[in-house]
Amino acid sequence: MDLFFWEIARASGLAAYAALCISVLSGIAPRTQALSFLASNRAVRALHDWSPWIVIPAALVHIVALLLDATARIGILDVFVPFLTSYGQLAIGLGTISLDLLVVVLVTTWLRRRFSNNAWQWWHRVSYLGFGTMFLHSMLSGTDLTSPVIAALSWAAGIGIAYYALERLGKALNPARIRA
Ligand code: HEM
Repeated sequence: MDLFFWEIARASGLAAYAALCISVLSGIAPRTQALSFLASNRAVRALHDWSPWIVIPAALVHIVALLLDATARIGILDVFVPFLTSYGQLAIGLGTISLDLLVVVLVTTWLRRRFSNNAWQWWHRVSYLGFGTMFLHSMLSGTDLTSPVIAALSWAAGIGIAYYALERLGKALNPARIRA
């Protein structure tokens, strides 16, 4: 039975991670210089708005399956408090941190109307950190991430997001270049 829960945990973890990559990429891409023509594209907007609805249930299944898999030795406290597990503290702890950051991004988006636009944007930028910790969690604890094809896709998403995030940071630090 543990093998069954382990397979479910891996498949749902990968599904949540893939949907998260799509969500972050479709959120950043239209705001970059090279892909700004996508800003008015409804499909890209819908992708960004709806992909979290895959991340949430898939991440929940990932966590429940790990809790039910006795071999994984994950307790309910490990889901919310990082670095308490008896093995793989860093790799698994990064998963816990990603989950905490994901909750922050989702809750602040849900309460968006209660924040000023500027304050909400700052909360939403937590997703960069969330993606970074999720990338490391998947790479360090993944069984399927050792497959060259899945690893290549993950690296491509990671490099793409890092590139566009740096471009955005460069603009934020040097606003004169935007006007030029
Ligand atoms: C946002 C939530 C999370 C997502 C999207 C996620 C995603 C992933 C992914 C993609 C993998 C690699 C699957 C594979 O290649 O086999 C993985 C593995 C793993 N995750 Fe998570 N994770 C999340 C949260 C957590 C949390 C909170 C914990 C535990 C406290 C956790 C524990 C693990 C463990 C133990 C593995 C290794 C499974 C194995 O043996 O292959 N994850 N996760």
